[in-house]
Amino acid sequence: MVCGFGTTSKGDKAKLYTMKNDNGMEIAVSDYGAALVKLLVPDREGKAVDVVLGYDSAEDYEKGDVYFGATVGRVANRIAKASFELNNRVYALTANDNGNSLHGGRNFYNKRMWEAKEITDKSVTFALHSPDKDQGYPGDVDISITYELTEDNEVKIHYHAVPKADTLLNLTNHSYFNLSGHAFGTVLEQEVWMNADSFTRADAQSIPTGELAPVEGTPMDFREYKAVGKEIDADYEALVLGQGYDHNWVINGAGMRMAAKMRSKETGIVMEVFTDLPGIQFYTGNFLENEQGKQGAVYKKRHGACFETQYFPDAVHKENFEGPHIKAGDIYDTVTVYRFHAES
Ligand code: BGC
Repeated sequence: MVCGFGTTSKGDKAKLYTMKNDNGMEIAVSDYGAALVKLLVPDREGKAVDVVLGYDSAEDYEKGDVYFGATVGRVANRIAKASFELNNRVYALTANDNGNSLHGGRNFYNKRMWEAKEITDKSVTFALHSPDKDQGYPGDVDISITYELTEDNEVKIHYHAVPKADTLLNLTNHSYFNLSGHAFGTVLEQEVWMNADSFTRADAQSIPTGELAPVEGTPMDFREYKAVGKEIDADYEALVLGQGYDHNWVINGAGMRMAAKMRSKETGIVMEVFTDLPGIQFYTGNFLENEQGKQGAVYKKRHGACFETQYFPDAVHKENFEGPHIKAGDIYDTVTVYRFHAES
């Protein structure tokens, strides 16, 4: 199903594409920003609950700056000092976060119209041409992102890109999840599990130091289900610096594997996150402040949690971090899955 989703300041008419499966799940995605706008999951009683924060129209997505449901690129997360060297050339990016470049720095991918290319009952593919020098990055890149809702209750996001020159690529989805419902309030009582023995320690500006710090014995340990709020305000350097959880965890193993889980006692809804990427930024909405959202909701600090699958932040400056370099003509192809069920 397709319907209008408002008009951008440039006069572009945005659309909202809705997909349903046979188990009562429903998702809606927009060509404005290739954003995930709605995600309905049946709770333990079978009542549909919208588990992602968002806005009512493209106009609101254009105004917003907290990346609800957003597709982020060319390089998600931070690049220190907004500059990097590739093939003996220095590239200048836009510093938009304490002198560093965050989520592309400027002219954000989530503030552009994407072209809806292939539309089926269960999937939509959005395409974006990102030209050479876009946001300061080298090389033309044709990007496509497919959102698919499966009968296994998965929201599958497939990222595909082919650069024409050597460049950096690190695409992610910045959805804020609240498994008790988008307008419920804080996620502090919801429980999180992570398949990670370590995280990338970061400085006061959230730039990794290069150290893979073991989670053992720290509030960063989610190897057993733990309430998000249990230790979030602990006097632990990483949490004090990040004002809560806002870090990259090193996902154990390689290839497609489970990275994280979250569950709500209120609804019984459980989310499992799978990815083939090495890292996941678990960000607990520490900087949300009276954000006017969809259907009159007002989102505040820690009302949602993001699970941003990614190459590690600032990997371009760290020899021991993989990616996000990609060579001309190589294929960037990665999949992240958010799978749902409800438990009694
Ligand atoms: C970052 C946060 C930032 C947020 C923007 C996250 O990916 O790690 O520090 O505030 O994006 O909404």
